[in-house]
Amino acid sequence: MARLTERNSWKALEAHAARPQARDIVGLFASDPRRAERYSLEAAGLILDFSKNPVSDQTVQLLLALAAESSVAEQTQAMFDGRRINVTENRPVLHIALRNQSQRPICVDGRDVMPDVRAVLHRLREFSESVRNGTLRGSTGKPFADVVNIGIGGSDLGPLTIYSALRPFAQRGPRLHFVSNVDGAHLAATVADLDPEATLFIVSSKTFTTQETMTNARSAREWLLTNLNGAESLDSVVGQHFAAASTNLDETGAFGIPPERVFGFWDWVGGRYSLWSAIGLPIALAVGFRQFDRLLAGAYAMDEHFRNAPAHVNMPLLLALIGVWHTNFLDSPTHAVLPYAQDLSWLPMHLQQLDMESNGKSIDRAGDTVEYTTGPIIWGAPGTNGQHAFFQHLHQGTQVTPCDFIVAAKSEWGMAEHHEILLANCIAQSEALLRGRTKDEVLEELQARGIKGQEAQRLAAHRSFPGNRPSSTILMERLDAHSVGALIALYEHKVFVQGAIWNINSFDQWGVELGKGLAKEVLNDLRAGHASPDHDQSTAALIKRICAMRGKQ
Ligand code: F6P
Repeated sequence: MARLTERNSWKALEAHAARPQARDIVGLFASDPRRAERYSLEAAGLILDFSKNPVSDQTVQLLLALAAESSVAEQTQAMFDGRRINVTENRPVLHIALRNQSQRPICVDGRDVMPDVRAVLHRLREFSESVRNGTLRGSTGKPFADVVNIGIGGSDLGPLTIYSALRPFAQRGPRLHFVSNVDGAHLAATVADLDPEATLFIVSSKTFTTQETMTNARSAREWLLTNLNGAESLDSVVGQHFAAASTNLDETGAFGIPPERVFGFWDWVGGRYSLWSAIGLPIALAVGFRQFDRLLAGAYAMDEHFRNAPAHVNMPLLLALIGVWHTNFLDSPTHAVLPYAQDLSWLPMHLQQLDMESNGKSIDRAGDTVEYTTGPIIWGAPGTNGQHAFFQHLHQGTQVTPCDFIVAAKSEWGMAEHHEILLANCIAQSEALLRGRTKDEVLEELQARGIKGQEAQRLAAHRSFPGNRPSSTILMERLDAHSVGALIALYEHKVFVQGAIWNINSFDQWGVELGKGLAKEVLNDLRAGHASPDHDQSTAALIKRICAMRGKQ
């Protein structure tokens, strides 16, 4: 296969992007009264309107040709077939098996993984139901009123994002808390108001060796031992107030969590793709297993769409291709995720890990340095708050930032008047980004207000908007478990397609290792009260200053 930048479609896209009208979205609308309809798709209960992007029929054709030339369909098939596409760790990538609702076997090395997946789901159902209905209680007989998930990265952001999204459905369940930061403030502030007798900790960690998580887990265990009335032994406390979601059964046992409280998963589930596995236990505890099942069903519906829909109407594929168009041909370095839903406030952070840990790579699958841009910086915040913070930059900054607006037509909280205002703002912002405002329009308005001449000219430049700023809108009727499942799966497949085109391994994360290793060395230095000679000057000086401040020198 020719190198990416040597492919015909890539070269044609470069030429296509060099046209003077390449960014003229307003012009595309003017020439096509059916554009909004023709550039919208529906799948798994989600509507994607991508008409406010600078893509014409020809652009889409060229992007689809790029996908074909990059064997995206074949790579997709390889993932669904359980082939070892995570080439640096020699693992299959099968988060899709976790939500497979069909009888289709999914095999790794000829062995169907579905019976194991279903067995863990069954145990998750039983455990979550017995905690929720009070059958399973703490060591002193109190039902669990609070559940604390201890995890970080995918073992935190996934369940946290979903739990926040489904808060309106969290009735009659225990309260859920998340502790991720090794900063003691996080654990201390979380447990401050909790009753140890009624608290269940879930240690969520694929590896069960992550420094932050294990430090928090040990301190939580200590807190229970110190504060639990009648705490007899470590074993009884850990046995009754802890559960774990992990692939490392040796370490969960060594921590003292009995096997019946350990919910396993497999090395073919990446951390940032793990919320569908046992890592989803806190979700099931908070909102009930039925909702968790709906979440899986929503993701499965998107998986099936992605696997089967023809390329030109395939939602994850098109979302990914538009992203490639922005990143590689229109030079947008970042991408904003703007959920108009307070309940989706963690979504930008989750997508940040999903996208940036997957596609923040500069080495291709053959081990060569790539000669093109890969994953963009993902950022964002819920609307309407972002409007009063960084939208200035989106509308008038020198960089063009493609935006995803995400919104549900109905609110789960009632408050209809609030929701109408929220919806109006969401729609108006994408309209404003597209339409802009010419200097003449501003002058006219200023004149109507009695501001004329030089003063009007001076102000008009500041008050006009370039417009033609791209966005997609993802609309759903309700923000419920099914649509949230579909939404996250949509982004997972988008990231997959982009990684497939960029020829990078989206499923490893070696870039996090160096800092982890150095942190251990620095920790030794901080404990010893001096800087070892291997550090650079700045690092050594910082260690010395800190030691001095802490009275360790
Ligand atoms: O350091 C990055 C990372 O490995 C993520 O990929 C992962 O989600 C997170 O750490 C937590 O890992 P674990 O679940 O093994 O504790």
